[in-house]
Amino acid sequence: MVVLEQIYEGKAKKVFRTDDPGLVLVSYKDDATAFNGEKRGTIVGKGAINNRVTNHLMQLLEGEGVPTHFVEELSDRETVVKKVSIVPLEVIIRNISAGSFSKRYGVEEGIVFDAPTIEFSYKNDDLGDPLINDYHAVALKLATWEELDTIKTLAFRVNDVLKAFFKAVNVDLVDFKLEFGKTADGAIVLADEISPDTCRFWDSTTHEKLDKDRFRRDLGGVEDAYSEMMRRIMG
Ligand code: TMP
Ligand code: ASP
Repeated sequence: MVVLEQIYEGKAKKVFRTDDPGLVLVSYKDDATAFNGEKRGTIVGKGAINNRVTNHLMQLLEGEGVPTHFVEELSDRETVVKKVSIVPLEVIIRNISAGSFSKRYGVEEGIVFDAPTIEFSYKNDDLGDPLINDYHAVALKLATWEELDTIKTLAFRVNDVLKAFFKAVNVDLVDFKLEFGKTADGAIVLADEISPDTCRFWDSTTHEKLDKDRFRRDLGGVEDAYSEMMRRIMG
């Protein structure tokens, strides 16, 4: 496989075309943003950590029957993935109240839910990724009812697998964001990343935050938290 020109640059990753029309190369950056790009910074080593952590978790999920875009880790921060068209929805699962949920509904952080919740945001930076419901997503032709059904089933399965995985390394999986893609043959697969950028991780004992909230909220110790999560995930 030969890597060709860059076709996309996002806030945390670059994507390159390859000579295989079914594959692209993803390269993870150390750039960090929050609040729709209003806050910017660098988290040294983040690209390599998010690449390796994402690939580890994607392979774990594949083994548990969740189809993903993962193909092959090429280097520290580069991975070959299936070329998909991203369904423009951010799929958010929550096990414990935090972040925008607590803000929106006026509740404290840390309420453990009896059952996980799911919500969708419309992936659109110009609009600030607004919350959207199933009917609106179908009306806007972002996904079909059948695709939404598949996405919800897969997202809850991801939660079951990851919650148990993280519990074993003394981490509470508070909430996380997933993105799904459609392959050339129309199959829905898990795409994007699963990392301290896209999940909230709290140490089960101390409740210390081990994720991007340390950057968003200026808590310090950002790099240490990312390294600690990589250590717990990769062993
Ligand atoms: P929220 O509480 O701010 O809605 O975030 C919920 C989860 O989604 C949290 O684990 C962080 C993740 N997330 C992203 O990955 N990207 C985003 O742009 C946002 C807003 C949240
Ligand atoms: N990644 C998002 C951004 O820059 C937000 C976040 O993760 O908080 O805007």
